[in-house]
Amino acid sequence: MKILAIETSCDETGAALVEGQKTETGFIFKQLGNAALNSQAKLHAEYGGVYPNLARREHEKNLPIILEQALQQTEGSEIDAIAVTQGPGLEPALWAGIMFAEALAKEKNLPLIPTNHMEGHLVSSLVQDGKMENVQLPVLGLLISGGHTEYVLMKNWFEYEVIGETQDDAVGEAFDKVARMLGLPYPGGPEISKLAEHARSGGENSSVKLPRPMIHDKNLNVSFSGLKTAVLYMLRDAGGIHTLSAGQVAAIALEFENAVGDIFISKTRRALEETDAKTFVIGGGVAANKYLRARLVKFLEDEFPNVEMRLPELSITGDNAVMIAEAALARALSGIDDVAKEPVRAYSNRFSILPPK
Ligand code: KG4
Ligand code: ZN
Repeated sequence: MKILAIETSCDETGAALVEGQKTETGFIFKQLGNAALNSQAKLHAEYGGVYPNLARREHEKNLPIILEQALQQTEGSEIDAIAVTQGPGLEPALWAGIMFAEALAKEKNLPLIPTNHMEGHLVSSLVQDGKMENVQLPVLGLLISGGHTEYVLMKNWFEYEVIGETQDDAVGEAFDKVARMLGLPYPGGPEISKLAEHARSGGENSSVKLPRPMIHDKNLNVSFSGLKTAVLYMLRDAGGIHTLSAGQVAAIALEFENAVGDIFISKTRRALEETDAKTFVIGGGVAANKYLRARLVKFLEDEFPNVEMRLPELSITGDNAVMIAEAALARALSGIDDVAKEPVRAYSNRFSILPPK
């Protein structure tokens, strides 16, 4: 089965044609053509975050171009369905993709499969070398992005329960905001990560101290706004960012990343103990973070050697259309024709479900 997927939930416009097959132990996926992707990050940088109407306009402009790129060298491929991200995401951005996909499905007389963005992050992170096979249930997913931070438990395929989530900012949002305070460009995650890595390898043993909010709370929720505010106060007390040396800025980046790592280790320990999950997977833009990946891998090896850890390939941690195609294929090939209800946590409490087919 071949699915053409469209993703426009935030500031990336993506299209991809993916072929999927059910096997005895799961699914295999093969990407046909290019996974075309256009990032608007540079355009939004000036606003220090994603500006919704600019995102919509850019998606509308780029969708036909991205679609053409995605379908290059795929002549002769019979497409079976179109999948589109229906949420969660920024409403104006989502609508650009939905309208486009609806028109395309009508024109090509193909079914339209509305797909959950978070399910895309989770499912695609379980795929290794094109295979999503022998996945042991229950799966514990830690989804970390600019809009979400949640622990999701999948006890049965395609049934999700959000068992913990942020009480305020998403972790990617915290990375972006702290980066902004430190005078670093948007998106801030990779920038903080670079500075922290440099400081860490230079033997900097963080001279600054930041809090680890909610780390001892006996639940799976997390909170990042206190951490962000602590950086703000630290800068204010120092007399502003311009009074700090490059080394001091790097020390803050390092301590911030360490704090995020400590929080996720502690909550993941609790989550694994409470759920008896057999597989642990991370997904979303922040799952590209080298330090978090390394720490979580080491932690699992040390404390939960029987839990299999699946790490997403770096090409699919950020928003993309391949993940939407894979989630749609996995559902369609399993004969499920409804949309994932969970994990659906909107960041702008919107969003409209497509009219029934
Ligand atoms: O999943 P994603 O591409 O978009 C959303 O659905 O939000 O995630 C984007 C987020 C941004 O906040 C970005 O700063 C963060 O992922 N990010 C990182 C890294 N790469 C991207 N955060 C920490 N370390 C990174 N290496
Ligand atoms: Zn995302």
